[in-house]
Amino acid sequence: MSAKYNRVLLKVSGEALATEQGFGLDFHKINNVCEQIRKLDEMGVEVAIVVGAGNFWRGRNGANMDRTRADHMGMLATTINALAILDTLESMDVPARVQTGIEMKQIAEPYIRNKAIRHLEKGRVVIFGCGTGNPFFSTDTAAALRAAEIEADVILLAKNVDGVYDSDPNINKDAVKYDSIRYIDVLNKGLKVMDSTAISLCMDNDIPIEVFGLEQPENIVRVVKGETLGTFVGNELRESFRGEKMC
Ligand code: GTP
Repeated sequence: MSAKYNRVLLKVSGEALATEQGFGLDFHKINNVCEQIRKLDEMGVEVAIVVGAGNFWRGRNGANMDRTRADHMGMLATTINALAILDTLESMDVPARVQTGIEMKQIAEPYIRNKAIRHLEKGRVVIFGCGTGNPFFSTDTAAALRAAEIEADVILLAKNVDGVYDSDPNINKDAVKYDSIRYIDVLNKGLKVMDSTAISLCMDNDIPIEVFGLEQPENIVRVVKGETLGTFVGNELRESFRGEKMC
């Protein structure tokens, strides 16, 4: 089966895994996401995942805390999500490994870039926990960094909103969705796609981003197959971007 992208970095937010209350883990949702990952794996697409932690903790929740400590708590929370995804993938017989940016060897492999690539080449899904392993960096930045390191063809940014809008569509009903937009315009317009560190990293390393809604989890596979969904973010607009890789 043909795919537009051979090696993808899927960023899954913590909220996408949360229960109706916006907290904790909804294994029904996790199953739905993992089912799509299983399909990609079957297609021969190499899948790496960076997972957020907003369903448990965000650094900024600790307004009165030391920021570094609050971020450490968030990094630990990403590992809970990574293990939940690992367990679900394994229950579907999808080979997968977790690597963490902060060593916790009793629980998961430490992040080793070359080993991560080897896992991907062997058809294993690699889930990166602990963000970048550093405070003051978001899991979006971790997604951009890991994508650059493993030379992913694209970042799949699966969100609660189905693309990039000129204003918050939850607040402004007249908000207009972009079909595609350049990184520099995301930065200049202050659009809330990813934080500016993450966007800058993608811009400097020319890593395209496909932003789409996760309400329909099958969007993950549709985007990888080359369907035009949501918003494409790149140095060039969608029509001039050539995703010619076939697997
Ligand atoms: P290959 O070397 O390609 O065969 O990869 P592999 O991951 O199958 O082999 P390895 O012996 O490295 O790992 C076997 C299992 O142990 C896998 O489930 C790994 O995720 C796990 N593992 C490897 N290193 C560590 C570690 O440092 N900590 C933890 N907790 N698990 C590890």
